[in-house]
Amino acid sequence: MLNARRSVISFAALAMLCASASAADVVNVYSYRQPALIDPLLAKFKAETGIEVRVVFAENGLVERMVQEGANSPVDVLLTADVGRLVEAADRGVAQPVSSEAIHAKVPANLRDEKDQWFGLTMRGRVVYASNDRVKQDAITYEELADPKWKGKICTRPGNHPYNLGLIAAMIAHKGEAAAKTWLEGLKANLAVKPAGNDRAQAKSVFAGECDLAIANTYYMGLMLTNEKEPEQKDWAKSARILFPTFQEGGTSVNISGMLLAKNAPNKDNAIKLMEFLASDEAQKIYAEGNFEYPVDPKVPAAEIVRSWGSFTPDSLHVADLAKYQAQASKLVDEVQYND
Ligand SMILES: [Fe+2]
Repeated sequence: MLNARRSVISFAALAMLCASASAADVVNVYSYRQPALIDPLLAKFKAETGIEVRVVFAENGLVERMVQEGANSPVDVLLTADVGRLVEAADRGVAQPVSSEAIHAKVPANLRDEKDQWFGLTMRGRVVYASNDRVKQDAITYEELADPKWKGKICTRPGNHPYNLGLIAAMIAHKGEAAAKTWLEGLKANLAVKPAGNDRAQAKSVFAGECDLAIANTYYMGLMLTNEKEPEQKDWAKSARILFPTFQEGGTSVNISGMLLAKNAPNKDNAIKLMEFLASDEAQKIYAEGNFEYPVDPKVPAAEIVRSWGSFTPDSLHVADLAKYQAQASKLVDEVQYND
């Protein structure tokens, strides 16, 4: 009896939702990415297709929310700022595969799930900011960061931040855990100061002369160079240049922002239209430019300021390995007492 009544109520609620916008012209998005970054894209999508995109933004807990909502979840598409959230969503059973030639053609195989449950849209490199005044060389490997020649010269944020865990995970994937631990011990021994602050704070330390090399994501260089609210950040950025480190047997470590189709997507056709739009050349370009990132399709040009840093070869490692080895990376950070 109670159950029957409940289903009447939920049917009424559903009818109200449908009245406000028919299922034919809506797609619901949960986004870990800031509204300012995705709004221009979604407006363009609406202009081209007539489909309205409703967005719920949160910095945390969206995957958990999808799990809790289960079959009643209103969400169609999840947008994330890193690969970890994509893998988490797939592992927790709230994603479903999309087989789309249009998406496959635009996203390299190592930047999308093998089972097509998630896809990269933009990427950023985990690179070195090198002091213009004090560093002469123009190339470096990740392995070299553990060389004693850099003793007391390197700054990084804490080792257990996801950005650093991703890099350490990539090192584990390339060389195995034992070699990655030796490398991390060497890197720790080269730190100028105890790890603290975010990536921009490391650039500030290079500017202040506390260290010669900092490890940071590519896009912060763009965000600092164009920062009108805190113009002192322009000076931090101008004191250094980006070196694109490579693994001895590989390229530059990259992470992705990405998308997936929700397991119970109520507007599946519209969701796939949105996903194909987001993977298109036009959308990748706008999306990447908004945060000084790189389109995942190498044929789509990055913003001018990003191109001015030079070109690089993204590591061919499957980006899922950054999530796969994250727990092992975290264990190594503890074992070498990286933050102490
Ligand atoms: Fe960031």
